[in-house]
Amino acid sequence: MPSLNDLNRADRAAFTAALGHLFEHSPWVAEETWVKRPFVSAEALHAALCAMMRAAPHDRQLALIRAHPDLAGRLARQKKLTAESTREQVSAGLDRLTDAELAEFTRQNDTYQARFGFPFIICARLNAKAAILAAMAARLPNGWPAERDTALAEIEKIAWLRLQDILKD
Ligand code: GUN
Repeated sequence: MPSLNDLNRADRAAFTAALGHLFEHSPWVAEETWVKRPFVSAEALHAALCAMMRAAPHDRQLALIRAHPDLAGRLARQKKLTAESTREQVSAGLDRLTDAELAEFTRQNDTYQARFGFPFIICARLNAKAAILAAMAARLPNGWPAERDTALAEIEKIAWLRLQDILKD
């Protein structure tokens, strides 16, 4: 487990290897943030990563959003998630759904994806399954730019928790 000091001294490849997974299937966020070292705190490092994500072109942000698996989706059932995604879905209880709950997730996922063209993103570690289903219904009427921004804000929360998992204090 690296400390902040280790990360501040790391070369670009080591920095990306340590932090590349913070943003799902998108190591470019960490790689491009490397030039911003040194970071005075975990919060400052997280803020720099998020600023890099926010400064990226919209199509790159959209690819990042689309890199996320559906919650309780096909990839989860086939056990094809990254280690972090698996832990996040388990923490929300999504590996223990009844058939009816699974059908409801599938319906909501498909409806959301059809409306926005990207998967529903919520920080699964901060929300249990009932809260996730409620948020899916509540956010469905939103406009596209608002949902894109909400997805990016949730991705920032996911990255913060993933950073805390790997940072030695
Ligand atoms: N898709 C929607 N929410 C999440 C989450 O918290 N983690 C991952 N990996 N994918 C998601």
